[in-house]
Amino acid sequence: MSPRKRVIGSEHIHDARARGMLVIEVLANDIVTDQARETAKRVGIKLQSGPLEKPTPIRIDGTTNVQRGLYRRSPHWMAPRRRVEPGSSRRLGKLTLIGGGGGGVNIAHLGVNGDLAEQIMLIDIVDNLAESIALDLNHARGISRSQTRVVGSSDLARVTGSDVIVVSAGRPRTPGMSRADLISVNRRVIRTIGNSIKLHAPNATVIVVTNPLDEMTVEMLNTTGFARGQVLGMAGTLDGSRFRYALARAANVLPQDVEAITLGSHGDEMTPIVSKARIKGQSVERFLSVEEVQRCVQDTITGGAQVVSLKKTGSAVIAPAHAVIEVIDHIRGAKSGSVPISVMLNGEFGISDVVLGVPCQLGMGGLLKVDEITLSDDELVSLRIAADAIKHRLSNQSH
Ligand code: 2OP
Repeated sequence: MSPRKRVIGSEHIHDARARGMLVIEVLANDIVTDQARETAKRVGIKLQSGPLEKPTPIRIDGTTNVQRGLYRRSPHWMAPRRRVEPGSSRRLGKLTLIGGGGGGVNIAHLGVNGDLAEQIMLIDIVDNLAESIALDLNHARGISRSQTRVVGSSDLARVTGSDVIVVSAGRPRTPGMSRADLISVNRRVIRTIGNSIKLHAPNATVIVVTNPLDEMTVEMLNTTGFARGQVLGMAGTLDGSRFRYALARAANVLPQDVEAITLGSHGDEMTPIVSKARIKGQSVERFLSVEEVQRCVQDTITGGAQVVSLKKTGSAVIAPAHAVIEVIDHIRGAKSGSVPISVMLNGEFGISDVVLGVPCQLGMGGLLKVDEITLSDDELVSLRIAADAIKHRLSNQSH
């Protein structure tokens, strides 16, 4: 009997990508829709004629066995390892970083040391700045043995051929400023960069880091005219890391013992999600009083401003760079699962027409889907307040 006919549509491709797959087996009887072929190409999934050889069963190594045994015998909690399908991670061809300030330099440094791409292109309009950083990073490759080649340029047209573009160019805050104070000056920077990306790299996934983050992500979407999935704002991975650190410090545990995310805006209306936060797998109330949790929430919301006020000449650059790499790792399949990203909402969580941080699944090509997780009523209200505040700020400065 011949095997049953399957119709493979683009929803199957999205589902497979969300599960971290890079290859889909297509049997002789299968029908693959044109849209599915297009989606597969866009998100980097290979449609391979089958039947494919079955993978050999995974053997559990000795250490994991011992750890599991210990776990069963004692209540000691172990941080879960993030699950990634073997072979699902891919190296980028070209990663472009626009902005040679502290953020760009740290992202480039982590990117080269992590061998994330064949080439990292660093662009800054200041003459020879990007070139000098590229040379410095390349000099270190004699020690690090990284295979990632770094190139510097002041020409925005060099975005051509990028898989991913990270935009951190623009003015940072100085003490006393809110991120929103930067709207009018950084909007002009984003427009110039966005026009070049639209012209020279129409297929790239763009990660916006420039502040005010949510507003600048809207600006990038408007300037490029790209689909919403192609323009992502990085904030939640940074704010989530700050929230986990604050909780870990208050509970006197390691950050790796804490699971917690932050959604909403990357500003005063940020929403650290207490209802889902876990310390050693248990709700935070088992470790901390309501007041202590509230202090952690405040510490997270003011985290960026605390760095600015100590530093005086600019904003945080190291934690934001790690947070960008986390987003890139989700795009290239080195990490899987949900990650908080600022994206244009189309009715998710009851919110539309504004960019806001929400849990997302990512892949090559950007956003695969928004995960509409269950939130408490207070958290939902807080997301809607953030959405209204961003819309209000944008409409007040609409030129
Ligand atoms: C921060 O929160 C720079 O917005 C960035 O540190």
